Amino acid sequence: MHQLDAYLDEHRKAFEQDLCSLLSIASVSTDGRHQTEVRQAAQWLASQFAALGMQVEVAETQGNPIVLAETPPVPAAPTVLVYGHYDVQPADPLDAWVTPPFAPSVREGNVYARGATDDKGQLLTHIKSAQAWLQTAGRLPVNIKYLIEGEEEIGSASLAPFVAAHRHRLACDVAVISDTCQFGPGRPAITYGLRGIAYFELRLTGPQHDLHSGVFGGAVVNPATVLAKLLAGVTNEKGQVQVPHFYDDVEPLAPEERERFAALGFDEAAFQRQLGVSALGGEEGYTTLERRWVRPSFDVNGLWGGYQGEGAKTVLPARAGAKFSFRLVPRQDPAKIAAELEAWLRQRLPPGISMELQAHHGSQPVVVSLHSPYVQAAARAIERGFGTPPVFIREGGSIPVVSMFRELLGVDTLLLGWGLDDDHAHGPNEKFSLADFHRGIKASAYLWEELAALKP
Ligand code: BES
Ligand code: ZN
Repeated sequence: MHQLDAYLDEHRKAFEQDLCSLLSIASVSTDGRHQTEVRQAAQWLASQFAALGMQVEVAETQGNPIVLAETPPVPAAPTVLVYGHYDVQPADPLDAWVTPPFAPSVREGNVYARGATDDKGQLLTHIKSAQAWLQTAGRLPVNIKYLIEGEEEIGSASLAPFVAAHRHRLACDVAVISDTCQFGPGRPAITYGLRGIAYFELRLTGPQHDLHSGVFGGAVVNPATVLAKLLAGVTNEKGQVQVPHFYDDVEPLAPEERERFAALGFDEAAFQRQLGVSALGGEEGYTTLERRWVRPSFDVNGLWGGYQGEGAKTVLPARAGAKFSFRLVPRQDPAKIAAELEAWLRQRLPPGISMELQAHHGSQPVVVSLHSPYVQAAARAIERGFGTPPVFIREGGSIPVVSMFRELLGVDTLLLGWGLDDDHAHGPNEKFSLADFHRGIKASAYLWEELAALKP
């Protein structure tokens, strides 16, 4: 192991330079104007793999390309499927960034750029760890297949058909994803549950054009007012979702799991300070960790209608709309919720307003088993890389591929997050700790060894 450690130490700067070069590519998947950069990011990864002597393919899909790479075969060793995503969320609001989102900048031990933590920085740890093995030992102790997509942030639509069509090629013993968080600084974690998501866009139309609110107001139904009422009615004063049958399939919280969460020692006051809010709120009867990890939730993600400019304009808008989403927990089904929601909204819609409800992406909630030798191997690798054993947590975000791997490949995923809650993923000034980048590479390098040591 000595040689490997020395290699990792000597290459810290080079790894950081590679990270910055990947972070300079504006591979925003939701915005058609970034098609060139999306492809550029896929090619950048392909050339990293090729330089390491791996077999690599940039596979075209209906949407963004998928990068597939394979390490040289190691007979009788386990096969690991590493997943990551090279696409990122839009960077706006741009003026809130201290340095530009695609000009990576290092400050106080963190690299600031869109995608730093989600997911370019985390994903790169599993490539650099393989590089270290290949260039010191000349071979890896396991077989690694890399599957890196460019549509995670928009729901991974092209991925399911791809995984289904390449089932044999992707066959593996276990999957590994680093696209989650540690429990806190210096408290690495293995995540065993993620929430799912059902995302919608609602458009309401009233009169055929904007009206004078004095001449017509009070006599014509205002779509912006109706929108506000509809959205306000989605949850009640206890924070419970009112869509019929929403909770039917939700499993009650196990008392042991509640106790385990409580024992993690979550610092609510620090969390509140970190977010700059004067109070927290959510579903009655649950703690903050329970609300974030194991209870479903509802959020408005965007809202428009009427006059948004400076000063006042007395207008009764013709149209109003919103984007909103539900985070889902095990056994809830995005498709079932979409159908219930649409019927419920239609029923509450007053005459004079028409609505259009569009379902965007969905993702199934997942819980993976902690009782596997792979989890134990990952825990040992994390302890060696981070100097402290991981805690076991669930998280509130969604990664659509995890349920696909279970259904289509029959394997569980090790969710080994190197990020932090305050990395500002999806927000301005996204960052990733360089110390965690290097610890992640080290943990990943040891993971290959720990997995190889498992009895078949
Ligand atoms: N890396 C996140 C998911 C995540 C973040 C999980 C933190 C756990 C902790 C991922 O890239 C993401 O943001 N996914 C989207 C998925 C959606 C668009 C289908 C999400 O959760 O909003
Ligand atoms: Zn991500």
